[in-house]
Amino acid sequence: MQLNTLLFNIENGIAIITINRPDKMNALNADVIQDLSAAMDEVYNNNEIRSAIITGSGAKAFVAGADISEFLSLDSAGGAALAKTGQDQVFDKIENCPKPVVAAVNGFALGGGCELAMCCHFRLASENAKFGQPEVNLGLIPGYGGTQRLTALVGKGKAMELCMTASMPNAQEALAMGLVNHVTTAETLLERTKEILNVIQTKSPMALAKVIDCINHAGTTAGYTNEIKHFGECFGTPEMKEGVTAFLEKRKAVFVTPTV
Ligand code: COA
Repeated sequence: MQLNTLLFNIENGIAIITINRPDKMNALNADVIQDLSAAMDEVYNNNEIRSAIITGSGAKAFVAGADISEFLSLDSAGGAALAKTGQDQVFDKIENCPKPVVAAVNGFALGGGCELAMCCHFRLASENAKFGQPEVNLGLIPGYGGTQRLTALVGKGKAMELCMTASMPNAQEALAMGLVNHVTTAETLLERTKEILNVIQTKSPMALAKVIDCINHAGTTAGYTNEIKHFGECFGTPEMKEGVTAFLEKRKAVFVTPTV
């Protein structure tokens, strides 16, 4: 896998994907979108990988948005294609990944950066993080799913206010509105994220994939029937047999043979 704009490391089954354009605040240009798509394909297909972290390089930004320098040459069809390609190739792929994907937000998460954090399954933020959907400042609106995922995370009224005012809540404000789950120091952000994923990686990967799919369907008419289908599918699987047998035998379940 050839990646020009990302760093990609695997540690203890966790793929750490670092967007690496610190001089441009890790802005999402066409190359980053292409690389993120390839990196997510690797997360899906590499059996050594059991979860992933998305973060930004440098001390200032997670991602400060889509790359604004690519905008002026686009017409209406080009703008729609930019949004559709990004949503199909990256944002939806992350949200629907059957393995847990967590954002470690280490600074500005604006526009497409906030949207990238929001398509991850959950988020941690460092104390210096700032969030926002400032597209209205540019005569634009969010295009990578921001109006939909922000509304789901913080509610309609807050989403309206954030997208209308272009205000930038800090990490504590983001925590209070449910946009992030934990706030850490800048120094401990990655370690804390890895600690949480290390716990998650002891659980049944089959069940984790089903939790992700069910929660992604929450609020849709298919949500409850989808849960019934997945719940039923768990029965009789080797992982369900191991989990239930381990409980009855008063031992810890082992779902995955360690690869190292
Ligand atoms: N697209 C392209 N380039 C960007 C960018 C973006 N979204 N965000 C930052 N950059 C570039 C700047 O143009 C600058 O490049 P330069 O050094 O070649 O001039 C570099 O990153 C550093 O940014 P700068 O603005 O000088 O840093 P700052 O600390 O003063 O401000 C921000 C940081 C994030 C507040 C500011 O860069 C900003 O408002 N960025 C745009 C945010 C936005 O509107 N995102 C939504 C896009 S749809």
